[in-house]
Amino acid sequence: MKQQLEAIRAAARTALNDCTDPNLLEKLRVQYLGKKGELTAILKQMGKLSAEERPAIGQLANQVREDIEAALAEKQQRLAEALLAHKLESETVDITLPGTTQKVGSMHPLTIVENEIREIFLGMGFSVADGPEVEYDYYNFEALNLPPDHPARDTQDTFYITDNILLRTQTSSVQVHVMEHQKPPIRVISPGRVYRSDAVDATHSPLFHQIEGLVVDKGITMADLKGTLELLMQRLYGEECRIRLRPHHFPFTEPSAEVDVMCFQCHGEGCRMCKGEGYIELLGAGMVHPKVLEGCGIDSSVYSGFAFGLGLERVAMRRYNIGDMRLLFENDYRFLEQF
Ligand code: PHE
Repeated sequence: MKQQLEAIRAAARTALNDCTDPNLLEKLRVQYLGKKGELTAILKQMGKLSAEERPAIGQLANQVREDIEAALAEKQQRLAEALLAHKLESETVDITLPGTTQKVGSMHPLTIVENEIREIFLGMGFSVADGPEVEYDYYNFEALNLPPDHPARDTQDTFYITDNILLRTQTSSVQVHVMEHQKPPIRVISPGRVYRSDAVDATHSPLFHQIEGLVVDKGITMADLKGTLELLMQRLYGEECRIRLRPHHFPFTEPSAEVDVMCFQCHGEGCRMCKGEGYIELLGAGMVHPKVLEGCGIDSSVYSGFAFGLGLERVAMRRYNIGDMRLLFENDYRFLEQF
């Protein structure tokens, strides 16, 4: 029995010595010291020993148990240390290496221009209205005095979803929403996306942005329209900026005008940028058509109003001298980080 005990001790020591895996360590503990372990198995046979032999063997058995326990504990500590050392080793950070700089994003030029225009109008007492991009034909066309056979409804220009649902082609649709829910005095702008079935090129995109403006009150005239837009352009492009109104036609305004802004490259002289004109076309505008007012339940013999629709891409392109509209949508970081 003595030899057996010695053999167990020796075997346990070798096994522990070779052990490099913390999981295996627990298995070894069970194997040698567990209730069904080798040591226990031997101790169970103690009863067969004579009274003289028993104390010595008992002592030896206890000694063997203690030895194995000590060896186990030591091994456990070694393994933990090794693990920690390995972890520290593999996770060391070379603090002398240059850091990875996080690029800070910048505002998109369209956002910059939109925010600026919002601020200018908020300063003039306007509020901001929102409208759906997926729109009923009624709001985009019909209520804006565009009868069903009007050429602007041609499917070439408009993305139809069903016969009477479409992607709005102009923010003018919001005029109708606003006037349906709000009675004069009305002073709102409405920035947003609009869609037209155009092929992409330097000056066209099937998705672009407009800012609609609408003012309805007693005694509103074309002079209010011109004054408001002139103020806007001077804030955007500088005090010396002048605008010019040219007669035009929109079904929902009467009279209607296209608004040109003085070319800020040549200040009206005529240059390559404005193609010798001295002025650059920037927006459409006019006095709200009485039919549109009446359709929204506003008495056109008491109230009048003006409206305008400004292309945001155009404003941004003029502002930052961007020659190709595609740059605004491609999200090339080298372009965007310049703003
Ligand atoms: N909705 C017109 C367009 O997209 C612009 C416009 C708005 C004209 C308001 C007059 C009044 O071209």
